Amino acid sequence: MKALWLFLLVACNSNAAPPAGTPPARGSNQSGSAAPLITAASTGSELYAALCAKCHAENLQGGAADHAPSLITTTFLETATDDFLHQSIARGRPGTSMAAYSKGLGGPLEPAAIQRIVKFIRERGNVPAKAPMQSSVVGDAKLGAAIYDASCKVCHGDRSFRGEGIHLANPVFLEQASDPFMRHAIMHGRPGTKMMAFGNTLNEKQISDVIAYVRTFAVTAAPKVAQLPPPTGKEPLVIFPGGKQPDWKPRENRYVPVDVVKKAYDEKRAFILIDARPPSDWMRARITGAVSIPYHDLKRLAEIPKDTWVIAYCACPHHLSGDVVDALKKMGHTKAAILDEGINDWHRKGYPMTAAEGVEKPALEPAHDHNHHPH
Ligand code: HEC
Ligand code: HEC
Repeated sequence: MKALWLFLLVACNSNAAPPAGTPPARGSNQSGSAAPLITAASTGSELYAALCAKCHAENLQGGAADHAPSLITTTFLETATDDFLHQSIARGRPGTSMAAYSKGLGGPLEPAAIQRIVKFIRERGNVPAKAPMQSSVVGDAKLGAAIYDASCKVCHGDRSFRGEGIHLANPVFLEQASDPFMRHAIMHGRPGTKMMAFGNTLNEKQISDVIAYVRTFAVTAAPKVAQLPPPTGKEPLVIFPGGKQPDWKPRENRYVPVDVVKKAYDEKRAFILIDARPPSDWMRARITGAVSIPYHDLKRLAEIPKDTWVIAYCACPHHLSGDVVDALKKMGHTKAAILDEGINDWHRKGYPMTAAEGVEKPALEPAHDHNHHPH
């Protein structure tokens, strides 16, 4: 059994993309995939396995990391249009670990590739579209606030914090989700997830009230978030070259806390910080001095000297950075570890960041557990 498992891991690591049907290592921390993961010819299924399964799970049911939602519940696929799916993938949900995947925004995917993933999700879900209930009952946001605070906030948070449900206060979500889409989710829930159906506890008016309240999360005149220029691939690797090496002893030989890295930063130690997220996120906000080596394109790892400490980070906070660290370890690096709490924690603490104009500190997140229980 153990031998077979090892074989699967090796097979998984040595191929361009995991062969169809290969389960990703549970909790994914040991999975270390080798570059290049994707090509222009990759199918929707291959793209999904390489780019999305880490968080949304191989079976698309979500929950593999960072409370990523299911992509194939009946109620979601009934009312999520192809355009909703496409836009969610292309633009992501800024401030969460859902990055923008479109090439136009610095991600790895051309529109045609995103379309192949949308088609793959549809085929795996196999749920016919349904017209969601329209309602002409006008909601009252004040009344909705009371319902939201009592029944929704614990999971969905507000503008200042995220829960384990989809962040409804996210400006991109609010632009994409129509009222009927939200109503359908609230009435019928998301079967198989923590999102229960409220169709029997809230009437039509009350649901209108809640939706009216959720809409107030969209700030009037949202700050237009710009992006910094894309990475050139020539950014210097080592922060503070010439400084002393850090003397880190990572927990479980894998994790270094944010505050420990910040201390080395303040002492101008010589180390390398790798941003493992799609470059679209690096172009939005990154730790000052971090180089972009995304989990889906690891070419630049070949330039990294073996005697220099490397810290990789992402927003998940362990999964994409874990890929990079595993790849480095496979290449024989011993001084490679993960920024334990991830970049969002660093950002919230007000530590040095290089960010595009208009980028706000990410909302507080629920504590991350180390065993990623699917729902
Ligand atoms: C690092 C983890 C991570 C990766 C990788 C990731 N996602 Fe997500 N995704 C999330 C999270 C978390 C959310 C919910 C964000 C929020 O709270 O609003 C999300 C949201 C979504 C949504 C919106 C769902 C809804 O119900 O509104 C879609 C669609 C989606 N992701 C598809 C994808 C696809 C396709 C890929 C691969 C190209 C991908 N994601 C890669 C974490 C991830
Ligand atoms: C126990 C936690 C919990 C509570 C309470 C809860 N939700 Fe949810 N909700 C979730 C989760 C988790 C999801 C994502 C499920 C999935 O698809 O994986 C979700 C999904 C949704 C979605 C769909 C978003 C999308 O993009 O697909 C809407 C809208 C929503 N919830 C609104 C509400 C409202 C309004 C309330 C209160 C009346 C509420 N929820 C109460 C956990 C909760």
